[in-house]
Amino acid sequence: MWVSSLASILPLVVLAFALPSKDCEHQVKEEVVPPRGWTIFGPAPSDHFINLRIALPQSNFNLLEQHLYEISDPYHERYGAHLTKEEVEDLVAPHPDSVAAVNEWLSSHGIQEEDISRSSAGDWLAIRVPVWLVEKMLDTKYHIWKHATSGDYIVRTTSYSLPKDILDHVELIQPTTMFGTFKRLKSTIHSISPTNSQVQAQNQPPVSDPVTGLTVDASCNTTITITCLQQIYNAVGYTPSAHVGNSVGIAGYLGDFANRADLQSFFEDQVPAAAAVNATYNFVSVAGRLRFLGFSSWLTLSKVVSTHKIPLTLAWSLTSILSLRSWLDFMLSHPNPPLAISTSYGDDEQTVPESFAKRACAGFAQLGTSIWARFTTSNSTLCVPQVPAECRSRSLPETGGVGDGDPDPATQTCITNDGQNRTQFIPGFPASCPFVTAVGGTILFPEQAVAFSGGGFSNYFARPSYQDAAVQGFLNKLPKGTYSGLFNPNGRAIPDVAAQSDFFRVFAAGQPIHVGGTSASSPTFTGFVTLLNDARLKKGLPSLGFLNPLFYSTAASGFNDITVGNNPGCGTEGFNATVGWDAVTGLGTPDFAKLVKLVT
Ligand SMILES: *[C@@H]1O[C@H](CO)[C@@H](O)[C@H](O)[C@H]1NC(C)=O
Ligand SMILES: *[C@@H]1O[C@H](CO)[C@@H](O)[C@H](O)[C@H]1NC(C)=O
Ligand SMILES: *[C@@H]1O[C@H](CO)[C@@H](O)[C@H](O)[C@H]1NC(C)=O
Ligand SMILES: *[C@@H]1O[C@H](CO)[C@@H](O)[C@H](O)[C@H]1NC(C)=O
Ligand SMILES: *[C@@H]1O[C@H](CO)[C@@H](O)[C@H](O)[C@H]1NC(C)=O
Repeated sequence: MWVSSLASILPLVVLAFALPSKDCEHQVKEEVVPPRGWTIFGPAPSDHFINLRIALPQSNFNLLEQHLYEISDPYHERYGAHLTKEEVEDLVAPHPDSVAAVNEWLSSHGIQEEDISRSSAGDWLAIRVPVWLVEKMLDTKYHIWKHATSGDYIVRTTSYSLPKDILDHVELIQPTTMFGTFKRLKSTIHSISPTNSQVQAQNQPPVSDPVTGLTVDASCNTTITITCLQQIYNAVGYTPSAHVGNSVGIAGYLGDFANRADLQSFFEDQVPAAAAVNATYNFVSVAGRLRFLGFSSWLTLSKVVSTHKIPLTLAWSLTSILSLRSWLDFMLSHPNPPLAISTSYGDDEQTVPESFAKRACAGFAQLGTSIWARFTTSNSTLCVPQVPAECRSRSLPETGGVGDGDPDPATQTCITNDGQNRTQFIPGFPASCPFVTAVGGTILFPEQAVAFSGGGFSNYFARPSYQDAAVQGFLNKLPKGTYSGLFNPNGRAIPDVAAQSDFFRVFAAGQPIHVGGTSASSPTFTGFVTLLNDARLKKGLPSLGFLNPLFYSTAASGFNDITVGNNPGCGTEGFNATVGWDAVTGLGTPDFAKLVKLVT
């Protein structure tokens, strides 16, 4: 359908360019140095189609931000008074002049209303156009770029321009300068049969933590089950209700999917009550139309006593971080999005153009509900459902920390992309967005930070005021001059919180396996937030929504402070877990019983 409508506009386009027009006065909108590792492979085929996304400036984002902070601040009288979808859309709708100017520009290239799809708020436009036309519209030249280590190919340019009269009516256009790819955060398959230490642990007596007074089975040091999570996070005996309108979502990209039979096996193994009622999930496909970007999906889990799920990696397909935008479009247009959402995908902040990162982050503010983002990135383990031999006992080195997550320390160079080749810690995106809750990783009980727990400071986003006191306290404790120049002490600091991240017992292709890595903490933490929402909904209170202002103020005492461990990277020992907030485990891990009291 797109193709035929474009074919029919061809003569018009030719005509438009045959005439002298003020369109010719283009001005550069954005220019980037190609990130390290990407080199030109060849010219882009002129008939290759690009799904172009155009962001118009949001007219009243500052006001939206003000609303968001008021309704998320437990000291504010409007706490919990979430806005409706329509109210949010009004606040981010573009100015009519911007809409008109961009429509006119598109129409001058033969692109008509029926060729354009618009986001609910009208602030994003999507069109499907061939390279030759985009090159004319943006006065640029696309190339096929190849990545040196991954071998991925991508069609991009390093600069694009717009006619002067629409320059201020467009915030950004992608894919143009976006070299970031959406990476799955590591989920490593450790083993199928229990190791000696796991067998030994089963015969040891439970261990009590003198600080928290909690008692945890010895097996939890080497095998994390739902029972372990309930013990470690002080949720033993809590029974959620299936009838209060609660919901939770888990984002899946890159062709990842969930398996109902394996979920059932998992429930039979660990949550018999959920197995007895055949608890399952709804699966919803997002943006199937944007197939060239890869398949995107999210799913919801309902009636789950305590959720945690590690998507098994099934296939590798190159997917632009633009699929985050498709996902946001879907969520923002949904009348009833899940009350808590977990995502375990992202990329190095510096590979995402700042303009796009800021605009995607604004989308999270709009969503205003809660997104949990993990943020260390690294190589993925490629496994198929049959769990072939090479996946069975692979244990990749678990790195990440303050670095770029490259498992090879020799290539974990932490060099900036901006052409200056400075050495710098590499925060992850979207974790660095101040409107999401970033989750760090822990291991063992009593808990300590895991070395691959990402953490640090954004170079794009300023430190939000909700974390000012906590982060300043941490910075004050750093010896003077520590890592000077390697991080931005005024940036949004991550993570916000932490949770267990390794040795999770799950099922794949009917078999129990142990998985771990950075993808595990986010859904674990989200499971406990879902239980907190349950406790609130039962009392007739609204769900929690955007969490951070609450966590850093009245709920801060509901976290177990993690004070052991650090997150090495970039040739340094990284940051230390310390008393109070730190750049490895944030405020700490949830003490569910305390948190319930604090939020209900
Ligand atoms: C990922 O790991 C595989 C197998 O260990 C390796 O062949 C590949 O080069 C790695 N890719 C990157 C980007 O490090
Ligand atoms: C876990 O291992 C640590 C030592 O590595 C030990 O001190 C602790 O008691 C163990 N915890 C449990 C629950 O067995
Ligand atoms: C769960 O599914 C099984 C197998 O399909 C079926 O026999 C059983 O009746 C179902 N139980 C409930 C509570 O729906
Ligand atoms: C940065 O590194 C790239 C790739 O190694 C090199 O081509 C470039 O000249 C370097 N730039 C500077 C300013 O050193
Ligand atoms: C981390 O703690 C160690 C041991 O106390 C100390 O030597 C080091 O300087 C600390 N590092 C940072 C970055 O605070």
